[in-house]
Amino acid sequence: MNDFTYRNSELYAEHVPVRKIVEKAGTPVYIYSHETLLRHYHAFREAFDGYPHIICFALKANSNTALLKVLAKEGCGADVVSGGEFFFAQESGIPPEKIVYAGVGKTEAEIEYALRSRILMFNVESSDELATIDRIAGKLKVKAPIALRVNPDISASTHPYISTGLKKHKFGIPIQDALEYYNLANKLRNVRVVGIHKHIGSQITKVTPFVDALKKVLALADDLKSQGIEIKYLDIGGGLGISYTDEEIPPHPRDLAKAIFPLIKKYDFTLIMEPGRAIVGNAGILVTKVLYLKKNSKKEFVIVDAGMNDLIRPSLYDAYHHIQHVKKNNRRLTPVDIVGPICESGDFLARGRTINHPQHEDLLAVMSAGAYGFSMSSNYNGRTRAAEVLVKGREFFVIRERENYKDLLSGIKIPAFLK
Ligand code: LLP
Repeated sequence: MNDFTYRNSELYAEHVPVRKIVEKAGTPVYIYSHETLLRHYHAFREAFDGYPHIICFALKANSNTALLKVLAKEGCGADVVSGGEFFFAQESGIPPEKIVYAGVGKTEAEIEYALRSRILMFNVESSDELATIDRIAGKLKVKAPIALRVNPDISASTHPYISTGLKKHKFGIPIQDALEYYNLANKLRNVRVVGIHKHIGSQITKVTPFVDALKKVLALADDLKSQGIEIKYLDIGGGLGISYTDEEIPPHPRDLAKAIFPLIKKYDFTLIMEPGRAIVGNAGILVTKVLYLKKNSKKEFVIVDAGMNDLIRPSLYDAYHHIQHVKKNNRRLTPVDIVGPICESGDFLARGRTINHPQHEDLLAVMSAGAYGFSMSSNYNGRTRAAEVLVKGREFFVIRERENYKDLLSGIKIPAFLK
């Protein structure tokens, strides 16, 4: 099912022509479908129905608080990795008892903030961090609920930059050392061991790595139990992939649930999962306008008004995003490089892409851009960040204004000697 479809050769977001949104909000613009967002969230909820669970949306994929409110209203929790994301979650009405907090570099201020707000649990990534959490909890006279993030040494078979579960990665605690760490944690006065966490990578397109990693984690839970350490929350992380092209059909949340239920049914866990991309990736597109065409003896370039500062995935991971005309046409099919205005050779949205020959002022839609799109955007080259729009049925709402030049100066202070 898709909420970005053509009617009379025009691309629609739900029941709104994309062209109409652009007339109001300009380009580049991120457009999200309310319906898709809900459908993807419900796919997880229904798949895991029948086993106690909390779906903690990974805010790093997209943290626009309007979108988070849509999810919060449905009872969704949050996986955060900074005080800022914790704040976004709270602002969106996600209750702290549904927020988990991972990340290798939590600061003392961030830990204190989360503890004061009564977070569900910290997913702890090192013994140093554990000691810090214990100390801060002691100061606040509370017991900090923690899980250890274990690194199961399983390959997620995904892009090396978004794979996290191998020994060479900075994440988590090696699974073979986990017992020792748990025993250490269990002895701390201001820490309460409540869970196990693992996350092996992102854009995973098979269930096998999830199953293999889970088996290792369950063996650890058994060992912990035999030593008197009871695990309540089993956090399996995020990472389920999405279709960026028609050839790649990753597992549905239902397939994931089917594969893991037999393994966990004898346990009394509350299952936590942290999907990001699978919920929001295909709920959003980035629409950009063609500024110029340029040809040399080797190549033709289509220069558009969205750059790597708006969507860095192609530049950073050589990621593929399908790009299509907002208004379909029958012009000749031509291989082109679709590039942005940034002063970097690595600034491209697509290279060697065959598309109906674009023309000046055409609108192009970069598909599957809802996850790690806006959230990874920047002001590089003095560029204002894009607007964001949420479509619901026949209506659309600007959920983030395009930045203006004044915004670019926000926080800048000129020392007196320069005034
Ligand atoms: N939980 C933890 C602890 C994570 O580190 C991540 C993603 C997630 C959950 C959510 O993973 P997802 O379900 O979205 O795959 N910027 C990259 C992806 C980086 C993912 C980092 N961690 C990209 O654009 O592909």
